[in-house]
Amino acid sequence: MKKIVFIIIITVCLAGLRSKAQTNTPCLIPIPSDIKMGSGSFVFDRITNIWFNSNDIELKKVIQPFVVQFCKVTNYKIEENNKLLISNSTIDILITNRADTLGEEGYCLDVRKNNISIKAANYAGIFYAFQTLRQLLPKEIESKTKVTNNIKWEVPCLTITDKPRFKWRGMLLDCGRHFMDKDFVKRYIDILSYYKMNRFHWHLTEDQGWRIEIKKYPKLTEIGAWRIEADGKRYGGFYTQADIKEIVAYAADHFITVIPEIEMPGHSVGAIASYPLLSCTGLPINVENNWGVFKDIYCAGNDSTFAFIQDVLDEVISLFPAKYIHIGGDEAPKYRWEHCPKCQARIKNEGLKDEFELQSYFIKRIEAYLKTKDRSIIGWDEILEGGLAPAATVQSWRGVQGAIHAARTGHDAVVSPTSHAYFDYDVKNLDLKKVYSFEPIPDSLTEEQSKHILGGECNMWTERGPQDQVDNRMFPRMLAMTEALWSLPQNKNYDAFYNRVQKHYNVLNIMGVNYGYEAQPITIKTTYDKTTNSFAVTFIPGQPNLKFFYTIDGSQPTMSSNQYNTPIIFSKSGTMKAAAFLEGKQVGDIFERNIIVSKALGKKVTVKYPYSRNYIANGDLTLTDGIKGSNEFADRMWQGYEKNDVEAIINLEKPEMINKITVGFLQFSNAWIFMPEYIEFYVSDDGDNFRLIETIKNDVLQNESKVIVKDYICIPKDLTSGRYVKIRAKNIGKCPPWHAGAGGDTWLFIDEISVE
Ligand code: ACM
Ligand code: ZN
Repeated sequence: MKKIVFIIIITVCLAGLRSKAQTNTPCLIPIPSDIKMGSGSFVFDRITNIWFNSNDIELKKVIQPFVVQFCKVTNYKIEENNKLLISNSTIDILITNRADTLGEEGYCLDVRKNNISIKAANYAGIFYAFQTLRQLLPKEIESKTKVTNNIKWEVPCLTITDKPRFKWRGMLLDCGRHFMDKDFVKRYIDILSYYKMNRFHWHLTEDQGWRIEIKKYPKLTEIGAWRIEADGKRYGGFYTQADIKEIVAYAADHFITVIPEIEMPGHSVGAIASYPLLSCTGLPINVENNWGVFKDIYCAGNDSTFAFIQDVLDEVISLFPAKYIHIGGDEAPKYRWEHCPKCQARIKNEGLKDEFELQSYFIKRIEAYLKTKDRSIIGWDEILEGGLAPAATVQSWRGVQGAIHAARTGHDAVVSPTSHAYFDYDVKNLDLKKVYSFEPIPDSLTEEQSKHILGGECNMWTERGPQDQVDNRMFPRMLAMTEALWSLPQNKNYDAFYNRVQKHYNVLNIMGVNYGYEAQPITIKTTYDKTTNSFAVTFIPGQPNLKFFYTIDGSQPTMSSNQYNTPIIFSKSGTMKAAAFLEGKQVGDIFERNIIVSKALGKKVTVKYPYSRNYIANGDLTLTDGIKGSNEFADRMWQGYEKNDVEAIINLEKPEMINKITVGFLQFSNAWIFMPEYIEFYVSDDGDNFRLIETIKNDVLQNESKVIVKDYICIPKDLTSGRYVKIRAKNIGKCPPWHAGAGGDTWLFIDEISVE
C-alpha cells in the first residue's frame, strides 16, 4: 500500500518540474495556499508579449530579472508592451487593489493556454509570482547560460492564489565566526528569495571578528576583524560600507530586508580587542580564536561605552534602512560586572537589583537611543532577564518560552528555537523532518497573543561552518523552514514535501548548491531482552535506499563487511561500527557505538536530582541502556546535569556479587562541562542503607580545552555484594575564575554505569 502511494507522488512531482504539464500538482516549495489545476499548458512562443503599466518604473524593475534570465537561457524574446506584436503567448502583470485578500506579499497567478496573468496588491507579490513561475518552468530555466537542448518552455495551466502565513521568514548568517565573501552573501540572497524568504539577519560582530566598517572607529576593522588562529595564521575580513550598501540594495531588489546584528553587551571581544577601554578592566585582550562565551563584555558603568555604541549605531542606521536593529543581548556572563566598581556604582545609582537588571538597563538605554532615530530593537531572549525594554521584539532561541512571555506581555516575537531552527547543528540532531515539523506559534498562546508571532528564522551559526560548509548545513533543511513559515498548516504533509524536495535537488544542482544530508544516515534503536541479558540493535535509515554494513571487532566497515538485514544481537560488550552506502558510495561518517553488556543492563535507574531537559539522552533508561556516549557531548547518549550533582541508584533486582563498577563522564570546558569534583560508589542490600565502597577524586585538568571522556572504575577491595548500586558525583558548581564563563553554572555529563 505504502509503495503505491509513493509511486503516485513521484509521478505527480515529475509533472511539475519536468513540465509534462497536465492535471497534476506541481512541485512548488513552499506549497502555495491554493492551487487549482487546469488542463493543458501555456507554451512560450519564440516571442512573448508582456503587458504592464510602462509608466511604473518600479514594476519594470521587478519584472526585468525574469525577462533577462528567460531570454538568456531560451534564446527566445520577451517584448514589453508591443502593440504591433501578434503572439500566442502573452503575460499580463497587474497591480490590483486586492490588498485585503492578497496581503502585502500575496499574488494570484493564472496560467491559461495563451496567457499568463499575474496580479498582486504590491510589488512583492509580483516578485513572488515570478518565483513560482520559475519553479513551474523546466528546471533548466535556472541555467547560467543558454540551454541548447530542445526544451519545450511550458507551464501547466493552473490558478494559484497564494500568500505567506508569516511576515518574517528569515535566515541568520553568522559572518562573525567565519567571514563570508560579498558574492557568497549575494548568492544566498538569490536562493532565499527564490524560496520566498524575506529577512536576512546578518550577524556582523562577534568575539572572533568585527565585520562592519565603522568610519569613526577604524581599529574595529584594522584590529577587530582579524584573529590569529591556533596554527599562527591570520584569519579575518570585513565588509566596507560600500559592500554593505551594495548588499542591502541587492537584497531590496529581491524583497529581502537585511537586519544587521550588532552584539551587546556580550560577544563583544572583537570590539574590546580594538578599544580595550570599552571593557570593565580596560586591559588589552586579543580577538578570540576559540569558540564559546567569554567574560569580557562591554562595561555598563562607563558612559563612554554608550557613546561608542551610539556612534556605531549611527553609522549602522545610515547603512541599513530596516526598521529593526538586532542588538544581540545573548550570553553575556556577569562576572566582570560583578567585579567592576563602575558597574557596581551604576547598579547602586540607578537603584537596580542585580547584574541582570543592569543588563536590562543597558538594553533599555540603547532602545531609547534607537527610538530617537525611529528604529526598533530586536534581541535574543536573554533581553527578557531583568525586565524587557518597552517596545523590544524578542527572538526566542532557548526554546519558545521567550516568545510566549513576549507575546503574553504584548511584545512581538520571532521564533528560532535550537530544537528546530539551528542549522549549525548536525542533521543527526536536527533532521529535515524535524525542521518540517516546526510550528512557530506556541500551543499555549491565545489567538490574540499569536498575532505577536511575526515568524521565524533558521540560524546558521558558523563556528563549525566556514563558507564552504554553509550549503550543506542549510540545504535541504532550508526548504523545510520556508514551508513552515510560508505555507498553511493544513497544506503541509511531510511525505508530499519530501517528494517535492527530491525534485528540487535537480534545481539546486543547477544552482550549484552543495546540499547535505536529510538525516543522519544511521540511527539505532535498542531493545533489551531480560531473559538472555542481551540486546538487539535495530538500524533506522535516515533516507531511502541505503545499504548498511557493520563490524563488531573494531575494524572499519566496508561493503565487504557484514551486511545489516536483521537486528544485531549483543550478549557481550563490544564495539559496533557501521557505515551506510548508497549506490556503492559511503554516505555520512562511520557510526560507532561501544556496547556494554553488564549486570546493570536494562535495570531501573532512579535519579535524585533532575537532568536538563535539553540533554535527556534516553531519559531514565540512559545510564543502563547498554550504549556508551561518544566523544560528542550532543550525541544524545550523554545525560546533562546543569548545576546539579548526579545521584543515581540502580536496582539490580537481586543480590549480585559486585567486582567492578564503571561510570563514564565527559569534560568539554569550552561548553562549561567539567568532570565531577569526586565520585562516590555505594552498595546496598535494601535500597535504604548504603555502604560507601570508594570515593574517587577527579584528576583530569579543568583547563584542558579538548573533549575528554573518562571511565571512573571502582574495584571493591573486599568481597562485595548487593542489590542496589549508587553513584554520587559532585558538580564543581561554577566555572573557575580563569574560565571564559567564570562564575557561570557548570554541567556534568554522565553516561552508562556498568556493574560486573
Ligand atoms: C545564540 O544562539 N546565542 C543566540
Ligand atoms: Zn564595568
